[in-house]
Amino acid sequence: MRISLNIEGVRRLYFFLLSLALLCSACTPPKPSGSLAAATKPASKPVVAQWTPRAYPTDQVNFIAMGDWGSGGQEQKDVAKALATYVDGTGIQFNGLLTLGDNFYVQLKDVEDYQFQSLFEDMFDARRLNFPFYVTLGNHDYEKDKAKIELAYAAKHPDSRWKFPSQWYRLDLPEDKPLVTVLMLNSNKPRMTSEQWDEQIKWIDEQLSQPRATKWTIACAHHPLFSNGAHGDNGVLQVQWGPIFKKHKLDFYLCGHDHDMQQLQVPNWSTTFVLAGGGGKKPTKMRRDIRGPFSKSMNGFSHLQLFEDRAIVHFVNGADAKVVHEIQRTRDGEVSTLVKGMSDKATTQPLKVLLGIDLDEKKEGPKDPAKTPASPED
Ligand SMILES: [Fe+2]
Repeated sequence: MRISLNIEGVRRLYFFLLSLALLCSACTPPKPSGSLAAATKPASKPVVAQWTPRAYPTDQVNFIAMGDWGSGGQEQKDVAKALATYVDGTGIQFNGLLTLGDNFYVQLKDVEDYQFQSLFEDMFDARRLNFPFYVTLGNHDYEKDKAKIELAYAAKHPDSRWKFPSQWYRLDLPEDKPLVTVLMLNSNKPRMTSEQWDEQIKWIDEQLSQPRATKWTIACAHHPLFSNGAHGDNGVLQVQWGPIFKKHKLDFYLCGHDHDMQQLQVPNWSTTFVLAGGGGKKPTKMRRDIRGPFSKSMNGFSHLQLFEDRAIVHFVNGADAKVVHEIQRTRDGEVSTLVKGMSDKATTQPLKVLLGIDLDEKKEGPKDPAKTPASPED
């Protein structure tokens, strides 16, 4: 009798718990589904964002130039948001974004790393930023095998906005009747073999020596030749690339590396130097103020708008998408300021490098990038 009562009790308890479980499962909200939600988890493979460009304007070419962005931090999120707002506000179909290196500060395990999605595919709104991102490499892109992985991602996903055919390459845009020639270069000399470095120099000279129908010539790379910022000038690039740029009257040199925004006109140089390294790290303080006309510690990006007879460069604040400085350059190299940005005063902090030689590396010997965490100022 006692036993049968216990069995009955257990049976009732079982049915009570079963009913409770069914009731609770009906009340639980459904888990998010869909590939995007799943793909931003570390164990998932990246999913390429769909993008569809509208018709490109026929009288102009528009680029965003931005470096030093792949941090995944709040600065990157804020700049990515401002970038989408700014581009959308212009109403123009842009031809592309020229990355100026330091595309990923985080480590990438391989070509399937989900951070291609969280820091790139999802970070940059594919509806409003519906154009190719043409890639160059920064020093941080050489940590572990990131350079190879970034090249492999472009090869594996030809439908992604991520375009990176080789370590250095040339763009002539727009495709039908090109107005602009852009050389996308690798300035990471210490990470390249001397043969690669020499081969690239020969290639730059060959490309710029060829007859061209395009009206504008631009070179993009990570490291500046001249900078008022934390890393200062790079004497190696001035000596090894400078004479070629001068010989061929390069119109613009675009770079990053310092986390600030600059437009420099340098005596005895016809080139306009644009530094746009404010893409996603904490801005670094300026070390010089003797050159200009514009150098400011800030997050942001540049917009190059190239017409047949003139080019306009807009320097845009990464916090609110507002233009802070704007210049015009005519085809014969006359530069005028349309909106005058306020430059920063120099600080007394020492430079991080001296004429292209990293003082820390010289003191301590070459760093093992695999073991060295990214400095917040790099
Ligand atoms: Fe850098």
